[in-house]
Amino acid sequence: IPVKIFTTPKEGSKYAAREIAHLIRSKADQGLPCVLGLATGSTPISLYAELVRMHKEEGLSFKNVITFNLDEYYPIEPETLQSYHAFMHRNLFSKVDVDPANIHIPDGRVAKDKIKEYCQKYEQKIEAVGGIDLQILGIGNNGHIGFNEPGSSRYSKTRLVTLDNSTRVANAREFQNISQVPRMAITAGIQTIMGAKRILLMAWGLKAGIVQKAVEGDVTEHIPASILQQHNDCTFVIDELAATELT
Ligand code: F6R
Repeated sequence: IPVKIFTTPKEGSKYAAREIAHLIRSKADQGLPCVLGLATGSTPISLYAELVRMHKEEGLSFKNVITFNLDEYYPIEPETLQSYHAFMHRNLFSKVDVDPANIHIPDGRVAKDKIKEYCQKYEQKIEAVGGIDLQILGIGNNGHIGFNEPGSSRYSKTRLVTLDNSTRVANAREFQNISQVPRMAITAGIQTIMGAKRILLMAWGLKAGIVQKAVEGDVTEHIPASILQQHNDCTFVIDELAATELT
């Protein structure tokens, strides 16, 4: 996997934002939509801040952008502060000119007996717009991408999953205490992610150990991010700290 190392998360985020802006504009010039796969969590906050800045100061328009978020907690109401719906609106969607009709985030309110059908429809919507042009990813300390925890199949698609305890502990910072962290999530699958034409995985700071395993270790479902080694256009965008264990 090609790795681009930046001095700070801000520099890495600026690189990713420029790549996204370039793609949005070149698609717009051809009269085409630009389909972005988006992540939440602490990692892409500086990326979204940079995209918002480019919208405000450099005229970057999101009018031709279609978005699909990777995941959402289950169950959760979109209005809940900690939901990924709320996160995306706070950090990006409310601050740019994206058409709300073009935004897709898994719905944490779907009735249990409707989830299978709902997830199939999510996949079909991605296919209907021609697939994801550029997928943004973070990485969990356990190697998860989206909420595809260790052991997820290479062939998994959008589905309801149970979060690892370590993921709930890591995400407890956003909640009052760990018991408030939902136990499940709806996530795009590994196959869904691998279907993207291009992937940028971002990682900052204390992720050096898992970055090393994903980039240089065996390809294994125990480290879902290692499967990205089999993608033909995936780049890791990391800072110097996250690069400290690469050989
Ligand atoms: C979020 C997601 C997760 C995060 C990962 C890292 O939509 O899919 O895989 O990217 O848990 O989270 P942070 O960035 O908070 O360290």
